[in-house]
Parts: sequence; C-alpha cells; structure tokens
Amino acid sequence: MSLLFSKFKLGNLTLANRTVFAPSCTYKVKNNDGKPNEYHQTHYGARAIGSVGLIIVEATAVESRGRITNNDLGLYNDEQISAHQNITRLVKSLGSQIGVQLAHAGRKSECTDSEAVAPSTQAFSPNSKIPKKLSLDEILQIKQNFVSAAIRAKKAGYDLVEIHAAHGYLLNQFLSKKINDRDDEYGKDKTLLLKQIITEIKNAVDIEVGVRLSAYTWQDDDYSVNDIVTLSKELEKLGICYLHISSGGVYFQTNDAPTIAPLYQAKYAKAIKQAVNIPVIAVGLIKTAGESEALLLGDVCDLVAYSRAILANPNFVIQMMSELKEYDLIDNTFTRTYK
Ligand SMILES: Cc1cc2nc3c(=O)[nH]c(=O)nc-3n(C[C@H](O)[C@H](O)[C@H](O)COP(=O)(O)O)c2cc1C
Repeated sequence: MSLLFSKFKLGNLTLANRTVFAPSCTYKVKNNDGKPNEYHQTHYGARAIGSVGLIIVEATAVESRGRITNNDLGLYNDEQISAHQNITRLVKSLGSQIGVQLAHAGRKSECTDSEAVAPSTQAFSPNSKIPKKLSLDEILQIKQNFVSAAIRAKKAGYDLVEIHAAHGYLLNQFLSKKINDRDDEYGKDKTLLLKQIITEIKNAVDIEVGVRLSAYTWQDDDYSVNDIVTLSKELEKLGICYLHISSGGVYFQTNDAPTIAPLYQAKYAKAIKQAVNIPVIAVGLIKTAGESEALLLGDVCDLVAYSRAILANPNFVIQMMSELKEYDLIDNTFTRTYK
C-alpha cells in the first residue's frame, strides 16, 4: 500500500489520501462581487470526484482591495457566505476535505476598482500601482478582516483556512526585509502581523489554520531559508496544523530564480520538516505518483500538493492511483477500499 494513498490526519480533519489541490486562482468571478458561481462549484466538485484528499480553494480576499484581480473570490461580506457554502457542501458530499486560502494581495493587487496597499510605498513592478503605505490603524483593520473572513469561512462550511503568506502578497510583503522598511513594531518584527493574525483567528473561531510561506525569495539579500525555519517553529507553537512550503513571487525581476525543474521546491519543504513536528506540504512541479511517493518515503513532507497538473486534469489523482496500481482504470474501480 502506498503512503500517497493512505489516510492522513490533518488537525481534526481526516483526509482520504495525502494529495492536495494547491490553491489556484481561476479568475472566474463575475460582476466584481467576489462570489463563487457555477463555474467554481463545477471546478471544485470535479476535483473532488477526482479523489483529491484536500482541496484548498484559491486565494480568497479578506477585503475587496485585497483581491489580485476583479475576478477573484472574496469572503469580505456576509453575502458571499452562501455562495461558498454551495462549494463546501458539494465537495464534502463527494468525499474530499476542503479549506480556503485567505489572502490579501497588497501591492500585487491589479484590481481596477480599488487601491493597492502595502507595508511601504514600493511598487511591485514598473507597471504596478504605487501602493499606499498602511497606517497602524489600517493594519489593525486588516487583522480584523482576516479574523472576520475566517469566521465567515467557518459559517460557509470550510473546516480549514490557509493563510497566504507566500508569493509576495501582503503578508509576505511584511515578512520581507526590503519591502517592509517600516520603523514601527511591524517593521521591527517582520513576522508580527502574521503571528497576530493566526493568534486572533485561533481565539475567535474553531477552525484549523494552515500557513503558506515562500521559503526563499529567490534573492539572497532578503530573508533566508533559515529565517523561515525559525518562523515555522514559532508558528507551530501558535497551534497551526500545517505549513505549505513554496518559494518566489516576491520580486518582479526573477533573474536570480533557480531553474524550474521537477521538485524544485522540495528542498525547502525538507528543511522545514526537519525543524517542526506539524505536517508539511511540498509543492512545485511534482507530476507523478512515483515522485510523490518518494517525497513521502524520504520524509521530505507529509502531504503533496499539485496545481497545474490538477488544473489540467481533474482526474490527475486517479491517474496517479492507477500508476501505483491502486485504481483500475479499465473497470473504473478502486483496487482497495478508501474510507
Ligand atoms: C493558474 C494558477 C493560479 C494560482 N493561484 C494561486 C493561488 O490562488 N494561491 C497560491 O498560493 N498559489 C497559487 N498558484 C501557485 C500554485 O498553487 C503552485 O504553488 C504552483 O503552481 C507550483 O505548483 P505546480 O507546479 O504543481 O503547478 C497558482 C498557480 C497557477 C498555475
């Protein structure tokens, strides 16, 4: 029996297997209203039929100016709750577990109907909006927005929220030594905002919390992987239930980016897994059951996430089961029982 297709306990969730659909924006919201629609229901429902263990719904903004584009999801008002409920009900009825990624785009927001905000006024790229530097009051409000979105997520039927602190979005901007040039408490401790958000969510609502981090910015003059190892240990103490380890997205110029090759981020997941006792998710060009199983057997990670492979093929996980001889594609049956 493979590790990949063994059940896994993640906080108080039991996953049917160790596969994760990584949060992946679909840009399919209509009318700039942040509400999931039939497209999202079908999209996530299809991945549940495809036997994904844990689906993490795409970046979902905690305030309207925190959307990456006008077509992104939100959980920033109560009217959005029932539309999310349509997804969670469907996905759970099909046997997958489901969480939602709570996000704020910060200086990477490309919305045409709102301003961009950030720890400083440094723009992401020559063509990006110059962000407004957040005041202390606005930072408090953003913290509250994360908490309110987590409460709405729970009402919508999600059992888990993933805090997006990766890929150069707002919380990652606060972690950055260069983008966060503030001289207040949020500049002195670059991890403070993320830690406060987690603590306040845990105090306010009974929901599992995971965190996604860019372990490396692909530039050597910002935080190091060791800094992220230290942060990971602190986040573990705050009671999060997993760390989802990615990299990059922080800077526009990616000349220093490593060659994007299969498993290119796995070494970061391994470094963090060695330092913490909570589950670690690896992601990044993992494209076969063999690679996934090797990562699990090698103690690189506890769960394996896929974005483009599952976007391209909702039955990608079933295809991997077949690769491991745990699914009979001809008879359309599992060769062993999944409960
Ligand atoms: C179309 C697309 C949308 C994405 N949207 C998100 C997102 O909403 N949140 C996030 O953290 N990462 C997002 N990502 C990054 C993926 O989750 C993943 O980390 C990355 O694609 C590497 O994994 P892969 O090689 O399996 O695709 C997105 C990637 C793609 C291709």
